[in-house]
Amino acid sequence: MTTGPEAPAPERVRTLVVGTGVAGMTAALGLRARGVDDVLLVTKTPWEPGAGGTGGGSTAWAQGGVAAVTGADDDVDLHVADTLAAGAGACDPEAVRVLCTEGPARLLELARRGLVLDGADAADPADARRWSRGLEAAHSRPRVLHAGGDATGARLSAALVAAVRAAGVRVLGGAALADLVVEGGRVVGADLLLDGAPATGGGHRRVLAGAVVLATGGAGQVFSRTTNPPEATGDGLAAAWRAGAVVADLEQVQLHPTVAAPGGAHAPFLVSEAVRGEGAVLRDEHGARFLADAASPLADPRAELAPRDVVARAVGAVVARQDGRPALLDATGLGERLRARFPSIDAMCAAAGLDWVRELVPVTPAAHYWMGGVATDVRGRTSLPGLWACGEVARTGVHGANRLASNSLLEGLVFGDRAAADVAASLAGAVAAPHVPAGVEELVCTAGPALPRAELQALAWEHAGLLRDAAGLEVAAKTLDGAPAATEEPADVAALEDRALGVCARLLVASAQRRPESLGAHFRTDAAGAAPRGAERPVLLRRAS
Ligand code: SIN
Repeated sequence: MTTGPEAPAPERVRTLVVGTGVAGMTAALGLRARGVDDVLLVTKTPWEPGAGGTGGGSTAWAQGGVAAVTGADDDVDLHVADTLAAGAGACDPEAVRVLCTEGPARLLELARRGLVLDGADAADPADARRWSRGLEAAHSRPRVLHAGGDATGARLSAALVAAVRAAGVRVLGGAALADLVVEGGRVVGADLLLDGAPATGGGHRRVLAGAVVLATGGAGQVFSRTTNPPEATGDGLAAAWRAGAVVADLEQVQLHPTVAAPGGAHAPFLVSEAVRGEGAVLRDEHGARFLADAASPLADPRAELAPRDVVARAVGAVVARQDGRPALLDATGLGERLRARFPSIDAMCAAAGLDWVRELVPVTPAAHYWMGGVATDVRGRTSLPGLWACGEVARTGVHGANRLASNSLLEGLVFGDRAAADVAASLAGAVAAPHVPAGVEELVCTAGPALPRAELQALAWEHAGLLRDAAGLEVAAKTLDGAPAATEEPADVAALEDRALGVCARLLVASAQRRPESLGAHFRTDAAGAAPRGAERPVLLRRAS
């Protein structure tokens, strides 16, 4: 960015929080609650009054719900066990226990702040005994809480936006994270690129801060098929990488098995796993239940409620054997109840010309959630002093190789608050030693490749999507390394996003190459015979300086 004499003077704040999804807004509120008044919350999406009731990002799009132990028939040990089992041996057990233990309290806090969960008592929305609990894949108990049926993310996001406004947190919308500012090995602020909208203005802005909390979400836009919103371009991950932070598990990208593929001009859209939790089944084009029929080579004892990676691969296999024609989600058995229970999906089906009460929905897998990210401990500390990370951009180890359904909103609530607690303590003088994991490899990659976005996305989907092998990963690596480097001075937000996507794609491929065996969502078709890396050894990378 411009740093000459003509550059505007940097602004100074005590804490800068980047991102207005569940993790970022929770962190900002947690800082205010702990007496840190001078917090600036920045977001790439518009924030001004009238620009919408949600904070933007993937949070507002979440349909499934929030998993948390609130029922008398459930307990934290069961939630821990389910999370560890779904994670395929690659979770950090300490982080998982923190998530499952602290989750219910965070959710209660949000209910007191105004989130009304389905089933709640109007007189006391924070009475958890009244909340309706749904079942989702790989959960041993119905523990998934919803709001507005399938509008949980939007309702949760709106409650947090209202709380952020009520707490008087200062928010700057339309400001994309270009880079972190590092001095003497410490993160001391961030360079922002403003989107040029009338409310924001254009150009660059440097903000210096005593602490920076990264909560920028995921990078699903690396792939040509994704459930993520357009803004999920990995800006925070790329900025942390460029600043020298350690990243972990970036080969682990969760694919969602049931993304509606209506065809024609209709954009694909997510059909929540909760629909299968309520009883919908998957069929091939001949009507066979390929996950449930004993004779099917894809059958699994848990049928349609097997862990997400298993179902995604089965759907992918059916699509492949049908020459690309989608598999079919059959929710007709739920009848008219579908419309009230899943009003958002019902509206999306209707807009695509589908009556899912009577018709089967064509579905394919698509990239959904990045389990890897900036390596953190359970306080959100990264390998760089001055930088904390939480939410999807972080890799705490709670998801291992396959995130349990509806654990992501919970993660944002729990680890957003934990990062706030640790930042507040460090601003008050506590020593915050960085989290530097052992076994980090260095990789040369700074700016990423300058490839047209659609080309990059198709490359990532083809060679580092559902199925991977050494030859395909090598093609992807060579293509990315052979392209000219992306610009160091992106002129606008789209160019900045392209640079970030290039970095994320390169790190995805490099990480996948370093894990020769299949593990959870990372599935290698050429794994047989390769010496496995082992679930206990995460792929840890840092930029070669
Ligand atoms: C879904 O509704 O199926 C997605 C929820 C999640 O990603 O946990």
